[in-house]
Amino acid sequence: MSKERMFELIEILNEANYNYYVLDEPTITDQEFDKYLRELITIEETHPEWAQEDSPTKRVGGQVIESFNKIIHDIPMLSLSNVFNEEEIRAFDERIRKEGINPQYMCELKIDGLSMSLKYKDGKLVTGATRGDGVTGEDITHNVKTIKTVPFNLKEKIDIEVRGEIYMSKKTLAALNEKRKANNEPLLQNARNAAAGSVRQLDSKIAASRNLDCWIYHLPNPEDYGIKTHSEAIDYMKKLGLKTNPCNRLVDDVEGILDFIKYYGEHRKDLPYDIDGVVIKVNSIEEQKKLGYTAKYPKWATAYKFPAEEVLTKLKDIIFTVGRTGQITPNAVLEPVLVAGSTIARATLHNEDYVLAKDLRIGDIVSIRKAGDVIPEVVEAKVERRTGKEKPFQMITNCPICGDFLYKKEGQVDYYCMNPLCPKIHMEGLIHFVSRHAMNIDGLGERIIEDFFNLKFISKISDIYHLDRHRDALTDLEGYGEKSIDNLLNAIEVSKKNSLERLLFGLGIPNVGEKTAKMLAQRYENLDHLMEASYEELTNIPDVGPIIAKSIIDYFAKSENQEEINHLKELGINMTYTGPKIEVNDNFANKTFVITGTLTKYTRDEVEAKIELLGGKTSSSVSRKTSAVIVGENPGSKYDKAQELGIPIWSEDDLEENFKGM
Ligand code: IVH
Repeated sequence: MSKERMFELIEILNEANYNYYVLDEPTITDQEFDKYLRELITIEETHPEWAQEDSPTKRVGGQVIESFNKIIHDIPMLSLSNVFNEEEIRAFDERIRKEGINPQYMCELKIDGLSMSLKYKDGKLVTGATRGDGVTGEDITHNVKTIKTVPFNLKEKIDIEVRGEIYMSKKTLAALNEKRKANNEPLLQNARNAAAGSVRQLDSKIAASRNLDCWIYHLPNPEDYGIKTHSEAIDYMKKLGLKTNPCNRLVDDVEGILDFIKYYGEHRKDLPYDIDGVVIKVNSIEEQKKLGYTAKYPKWATAYKFPAEEVLTKLKDIIFTVGRTGQITPNAVLEPVLVAGSTIARATLHNEDYVLAKDLRIGDIVSIRKAGDVIPEVVEAKVERRTGKEKPFQMITNCPICGDFLYKKEGQVDYYCMNPLCPKIHMEGLIHFVSRHAMNIDGLGERIIEDFFNLKFISKISDIYHLDRHRDALTDLEGYGEKSIDNLLNAIEVSKKNSLERLLFGLGIPNVGEKTAKMLAQRYENLDHLMEASYEELTNIPDVGPIIAKSIIDYFAKSENQEEINHLKELGINMTYTGPKIEVNDNFANKTFVITGTLTKYTRDEVEAKIELLGGKTSSSVSRKTSAVIVGENPGSKYDKAQELGIPIWSEDDLEENFKGM
């Protein structure tokens, strides 16, 4: 057991890793590898003082950091402009030719992962960092070291920074999701989120277990190495032992770019990893310099994005659901099919006009995709696949639940069941009343409401507060023990104290959402004041338009609603706003925020509540009017959009700072 032997083993194993993972050309068997690794582990355990940073045993993870250090990029990590079709690709090419350049282009796959920067000193890996906001990233060295294709030592002892993409293979993502499914955990929607979530872990054991991989595609400082073209830079990085993508192709014109896009558009499904487009880069470094940069993008490169993935399946049926307001929605029942990582069996068809415009027929083969990569959408019927047996769509005339005739208001597209006694509408209303954002009654879930409704224990809101009268009958029910009924009755009792905005939202006044309810509760302080407000007074409130105002007036004008509210009052339900008063803070007042990703220090609800309390607003979509985007773990496309629009990005730490600055 000697120090020399340890160095020898490190070299053998690092070389074997490189041959196996980067070159895909194994030089020793798995058994030999394991034998050497065990020998090395034994030496390191016996002589911890000899341990080397570049030992392959470091790949298994185990280093836990307390928080992510910031890394300022010497050269900013820029993003890429996007093009979506041939016309835009031609325009990109023309802009370049206008500068008197006759370019050669490198076409590369746009890997769906997250970008990273690797720094080597004297040929040794020193840091790995995320892109962050492009200027400042996070130090993820501990996790990067678990990626087997990131060499600890380059084949030359040089100082260099290289950039590339960390990704998770399709196989690894599928296996990870299988496990998550078995544990009832939410599934990861795509490879990018999966990779991003893995490198944002403090404990490197987690990243190690995620089997991440990388492709290196950018050398920020080519001139320092006497390199004149991007393709030379790729060859050089490959020679250093870094993993570069073999699919890269040099082309001479737009036709060449289009060929590459067509080829990989058809073959992307055969690649072992996800790509979401093709990156086009001017090959000559001198020409790149001439073209220069905008504030956010290089002008010498662009990313062509593939259209959202579309998959064919059969439209088995169209069924109708009744919402809380009586609105009837047609829904597609589909032969279950996998789209962009999840199984789709249902998709909303919105309304009659939507179905007729697409001429969807039951039995049709339809193409579906995920809009914004999340909500499933039926794109079109494949008319050429029709057999003649398909059944044309027929809008229903009567409520599928109560059978009452359906109405459509003039100028509107939706049909409504207007039967005040329609059980489904009532039930949906009750489910809404007890829901988390309304009265938040623990233990009164959808299924229990359905049971109690069918058993006629509750048919209107106030009946919920009379459930105690049925205590004995309830405890006799199968599946409801005494303890659970007591807990439920207690939760109902506790809900009586809720601040007004919960009740107001829970009543289900059409067009009064959670935010409007809160704003009205803060403004009027008790329900009587709001009930006395005139139409004019309501429309004078910012954010309350004629539709909301009319809805509120109509609701409180109905005698059955007045009676129900009086009944609730008698039962002791609080009718006043007891929440905190708005304390205006300049960091938040009159500003709009968007939250994306998973927050770790606060819940989303807490952050929203706090922002509102300080005079700000939250919104679900990013626009030029957004003041800042608050980014948690695994941020979605809102993060990209914010970067594209140059909107300030706040981490949770930034948010905390701003909260503190009160
Ligand atoms: S080049 C200055 N090449 O796409 C050049 N980016 O939408 C910087 N990406 O932030 C990037 N594959 O995370 C480049 N072959 C590739 C890429 C690639 C994926 C990502 C990268 C970048 C994003 C821009």
